[in-house]
Amino acid sequence: MKSLLIVYHSQSGTCAQLARAAWRGVQLEPQVAVTVRRAWDADTAQLALADGVLLVMAENSGALCGAMKDFLDRSFYPAIARGLVLPYTLLISAGNDGRGAQRQAERILSGYPFPAAAEPLILRGEWCAGHRRASEELGQAFAAGLSMGIF
Ligand SMILES: Cc1cc2nc3c(=O)[nH]c(=O)nc-3n(C[C@H](O)[C@H](O)[C@H](O)COP(=O)(O)O)c2cc1C
Repeated sequence: MKSLLIVYHSQSGTCAQLARAAWRGVQLEPQVAVTVRRAWDADTAQLALADGVLLVMAENSGALCGAMKDFLDRSFYPAIARGLVLPYTLLISAGNDGRGAQRQAERILSGYPFPAAAEPLILRGEWCAGHRRASEELGQAFAAGLSMGIF
């Protein structure tokens, strides 16, 4: 049995919807247990129990949203101290861009160092059925990769 951790932050509810859809996608893979934590409540203890981590966040002011930055700031040295190396994937919500959040997150995560399991998924604009499907597919694909030992 593998374990996937979803860490998310949401101000308006959009990223919470993306995280929920990704969680549903992971549940389609019976060999993977999924845990969901808000970024403010997550810490290294949950990372240490996981085989992979999906980070769901918005781009705010051209950068990673503050709560996700706070989570990464808090877990950086503890993760290094435990020697954690987890495959990660980014699910980013943005009004019309998202690349600033992507760049910043990738740069931070390369320092842990965590390897990327997939290309980041940036979903722009209002929450819609297409975003729900894409988030579910990302969650399922990540879980399937973990289950098959690809990551
Ligand atoms: C303060 C603030 C700054 C934002 N800055 C950007 C930005 O720089 N680029 C972008 O594409 N979207 C930007 N957005 C739009 C958000 O990324 C988008 O609304 C996202 O869905 C918010 O998700 P959340 O409310 O679930 O956290 C911004 C939104 C807010 C509230």
